Amino acid sequence: MTRGYADVLVGLQYGDEGKAKIIDHLAHAYDIIARFNGGANAGHTVRTPLGSAKLAQVPSGAFHPDKLLYIGSGCAVNLEKLAGEIDALERAGLTLDGRLLISGRCIVVQPVHVRMDVLHGSDIGTTGNGIGPCYADLALRMRSECRTVVQLRDLHKNLDLAFGQMAAYDRLSAPCSKAHEADIAATFHRLRAAWTRILPFVTMDDLFLTRLVRAGKRVLFEGAQSLQLDVSLGDQPYVTSSHTSASFAYVGGDLSCHFHRKTIGVAKAIVSRVGAGPFPSEFGGTASASYCARAAKEGTGHEAERARFDPRALLASGDPFELGIALRMLTDEYGTGSGRPRRIGALDVSQLADAASRHAVDEIYLNKCDSLALFPNKASGAIPVFDETSLRWFPSFAGPLNASLPPSLRGLIAHIERRTGSRIAGIGTGPARDDIICLQ
Ligand code: GDP
Ligand code: IMO
Ligand code: MG
Repeated sequence: MTRGYADVLVGLQYGDEGKAKIIDHLAHAYDIIARFNGGANAGHTVRTPLGSAKLAQVPSGAFHPDKLLYIGSGCAVNLEKLAGEIDALERAGLTLDGRLLISGRCIVVQPVHVRMDVLHGSDIGTTGNGIGPCYADLALRMRSECRTVVQLRDLHKNLDLAFGQMAAYDRLSAPCSKAHEADIAATFHRLRAAWTRILPFVTMDDLFLTRLVRAGKRVLFEGAQSLQLDVSLGDQPYVTSSHTSASFAYVGGDLSCHFHRKTIGVAKAIVSRVGAGPFPSEFGGTASASYCARAAKEGTGHEAERARFDPRALLASGDPFELGIALRMLTDEYGTGSGRPRRIGALDVSQLADAASRHAVDEIYLNKCDSLALFPNKASGAIPVFDETSLRWFPSFAGPLNASLPPSLRGLIAHIERRTGSRIAGIGTGPARDDIICLQ
């Protein structure tokens, strides 16, 4: 019998590189698509012939009805949101019965985690999903004789006991009041319903993937968030709270690294970052960062910018801050879950080279190459690329892209391959499953 293998796909920048689109594109060549980190903080967009979705916790192979989907123990599960996601997919005609499996070791995002994140996460610009407090409490284990962490298997073993423990922990971190007690009762009522929905998908079999891979099956691990947001390797504190590196797939994904075949990186040709933190290639620098932070606080996004700006005029203005706004509007860079305006910057080749070398990335998909055609033509060159702390310019090209790529784009691809030492396996030309030109 031939042994199976696993490939790991991770984002190389600050998230939202179009990982889900590449997962959905590549899924046909695998048997199982598996998540290993993060939770409802992810926003993964897929556009397929069977329909479109913004997925958060369900792996992006969902629109391949013959594939197994696995949520590994490294993930933090929001019960209500996951139940809602499963319902939405089933309403769209995709049954998950028997093909979605969720590790019993996944940690549960508790109401107290969401409350703490919403209260304290604004300096970082978190997604407010309770992810930081939840992973922190996994490491903490106990506080004042109260367990701080609940795994799905605890709910499976004794639901009343586990909910009782969650309620006790909730009371520890909020002043006792009648209103809070009523709130706890209502919340646990909803959680009970969500758990009933999720229970059939939960597996206590820690060896689920191992057994399948030993029997010849092929796994594609789907990273959430991205390398620059890794809790240890990113720019603390402006990071998420899980490990996002490819190696972590074999911890949070419940498989031995013995089965690793290759690492696939996803980047986009115009970079975005949502939330606070360093972004050296940002168009408009600190002006852009504070503008986006303010917009996120005020809850203004696409509609507000559309009412205020003419993106074509901004594009031609020559001002980097205005260029950033124009590119955001024209390429629809608003948070998948939150609608927050994403900060926009030039492709950072030094960052890509560092990420590719540190994580031994075998091949890279470069999404959103279609968007490069938006850069206004100038005699000096049009496409800005950030490398070794300064901008370098590549000639412009006009869209749409087809298999005979314009020479200027070929030049850019060759430059990235030289600097990263990785092959560019394909370029993204649009949001749909097959909007990809594969390169030899
Ligand atoms: P993920 O979190 O990495 O899966 O990415 P998101 O789904 O959060 O954000 C990527 C956005 O870019 C989505 O709206 C995709 O539909 C879109 N997208 C992906 N690839 C391309 C591409 O090659 N061209 C264009 N124009 N849009 C793309
Ligand atoms: P996908 O999987 C982009 C960012 C948040 C914030 C920081 C911490 O769609 O690429 P958290 O809620 O995780 O504690 O927030 O990380 N962030 C993301 N940015 N894409 C994501 O996921 C993100 N998940 C978290 O904006 O700056
Ligand atoms: Mg996203």
